[in-house]
Amino acid sequence: MEPPIHDYTGIRWQVTISILFSWLCHSVSGQIHYSIVEEMRKDSVIANVADDLGLDIKQLSSRKLRIVSRASEKYFYVKLDNGNLHIKDRIDRETLCGAETTCHLMFDAVVANPLNIFKVTVEIQDINDNSPQFYHNTIALEIVELTSPGARFALQSAEDPDIGSNSVQTYKLSDNQYFTLTENIRTDGSKYPELVLEKPLDREKQDIHRLILTALDGGNPIRSGTTILKIIVIDANDNAPIFSQDMYKVSLKENIPVNSTVIILNATDNDEGINAQITYSFMKTSGNIHHMGKFSINSTTGEVKINENMNFDIAKNYELSVQAKDGGGLVAHCKVLVEVIDVNDNAPEISITSLSSPIPEDSAPGTMIALIEIHDQDSGDNADVDCQIIENVPFNLLSLDNYYKIVLKTAIDREKSLSFNITIIATDRGSPPLSSTRVLTLDILDINDNPPTFAKSTYAAYVPENNLPGASIFSIQASDPDTGDNAKIIYSISNTITESPSTTSYLSINIETGVLYAQRSFDFEQNKEFLIEVTASDNGSPSLSSNVTLFIHIVD
Ligand SMILES: *[C@@H]1O[C@H](CO)[C@@H](O)[C@H](O)[C@H]1NC(C)=O
Ligand SMILES: *[C@@H]1O[C@H](CO)[C@@H](O)[C@H](O)[C@H]1NC(C)=O
Ligand SMILES: *[C@@H]1O[C@H](CO)[C@@H](O)[C@H](O)[C@H]1NC(C)=O
Repeated sequence: MEPPIHDYTGIRWQVTISILFSWLCHSVSGQIHYSIVEEMRKDSVIANVADDLGLDIKQLSSRKLRIVSRASEKYFYVKLDNGNLHIKDRIDRETLCGAETTCHLMFDAVVANPLNIFKVTVEIQDINDNSPQFYHNTIALEIVELTSPGARFALQSAEDPDIGSNSVQTYKLSDNQYFTLTENIRTDGSKYPELVLEKPLDREKQDIHRLILTALDGGNPIRSGTTILKIIVIDANDNAPIFSQDMYKVSLKENIPVNSTVIILNATDNDEGINAQITYSFMKTSGNIHHMGKFSINSTTGEVKINENMNFDIAKNYELSVQAKDGGGLVAHCKVLVEVIDVNDNAPEISITSLSSPIPEDSAPGTMIALIEIHDQDSGDNADVDCQIIENVPFNLLSLDNYYKIVLKTAIDREKSLSFNITIIATDRGSPPLSSTRVLTLDILDINDNPPTFAKSTYAAYVPENNLPGASIFSIQASDPDTGDNAKIIYSISNTITESPSTTSYLSINIETGVLYAQRSFDFEQNKEFLIEVTASDNGSPSLSSNVTLFIHIVD
């Protein structure tokens, strides 16, 4: 260490002479004591040793004054022309004496003719030429964040090889709000600094505190040395995991594929290491025990997935309770509400509650034909169904809540349409809409509303005279558009308009076929012509009939 530049204008020295003359010995012995400060410049004068020893300066050369000492010869020399004692080499008290409280260099000043030996003691006084110094530039200290205020942490002392007040006297800590400094004394009396925690530490706020520790000595001027205190705050599990919300809502379409992600939960924990390592799990509650299997949670990532297919029609909501637990055992809870959204996956269903078939063709408009019910298993718009009849048929659809009545719109005629196919289409309002159709076959029941009819209003038959009795002479046909008995025709001769009232006995008619037979031979000379009326009646109830006139001409 370089000596400090002190301006010593004079040499502070002090001489204690105690020269003892011993007449018992041929030499003269004495003791001289000088006191100097260390680190004096080379060639500085300490004192005039010749004067102090009472030697005649003129005789110094002849008496060969010299310094004899194994240790001190290198530090001092005497100038023989004036008797001054000089510094020969740098004197560092710390090297010579270390921590000793007093430090001396001793030598013998020897003169010859006569021989005399003087003991000279030079006391080396300390100057403040060393600054306090810490062994480490940085002192690292680990403190657990939950440590209570008042806790003390011993710090390594600074070293200063100077002694007394020039050595370390006090310590100082840079400004901060968490720590103060105190001093403690070891059993050997040495002092060392201690750090005192004043205020609880929070690693989550500040995990490292850097302070400057200064050691000061008591010299003039004061010298100092510093080190950095690096205080590492060790995590304690003082933070529980936190979910960003206590409840999360998720909407899922009911057709979401199995294994899809529902939500990724992230709880955070302000601690570090294992204290911040979060494990997720479901918590069973009486409300959700039966649907736990529908979902799974990844204990590390917090990802919730679907295990089974959803079905809106079975369950519309699920409530999951999730726990996040850190490595220190602190927990947080949250709820996940899963709402299942209906997807339009069901077409409306058309069911026929009642159907009157066949219906008589004379049914009045307004007559109810059928009652149908529409149902859609979806919900909302997906279950809102419009219903209509898509063909041009004489029926109306009347809405009645979920029911529809099919009623007759106008009169119908079996003879025009034997039956009707009524196609009903039901369409929901989903996107895209789904629809279904259903065909009702309605048969029409015949009513005897048509009489048998003849193609012509009159017929004429020409029969040669002398015909064979029993021969068929004509066939007359009526038709009836009704069906069954209503169309079954019975023919009869209802009237004979002729001059001879006995004509009836000449003719007969097959009631089923309408074939006319002559019962006898006609005689042209007797009857030239007949006029008969044929009635065709159907078998309906009541029966309908029509008449036709038949002229029978006898040919000569
Ligand atoms: C959790 O974090 C992931 C990834 O950052 C993010 O996608 C997800 O939405 C977060 N979850 C919640 C519930 O905030
Ligand atoms: C009704 O539908 C059936 C079966 O498709 C068909 O045979 C029948 O001719 C249809 N009837 C009418 C009146 O269109
Ligand atoms: C047909 O003739 C008979 C007998 O003359 C008569 O009673 C009946 O009313 C007639 N029928 C019709 C439809 O004119």
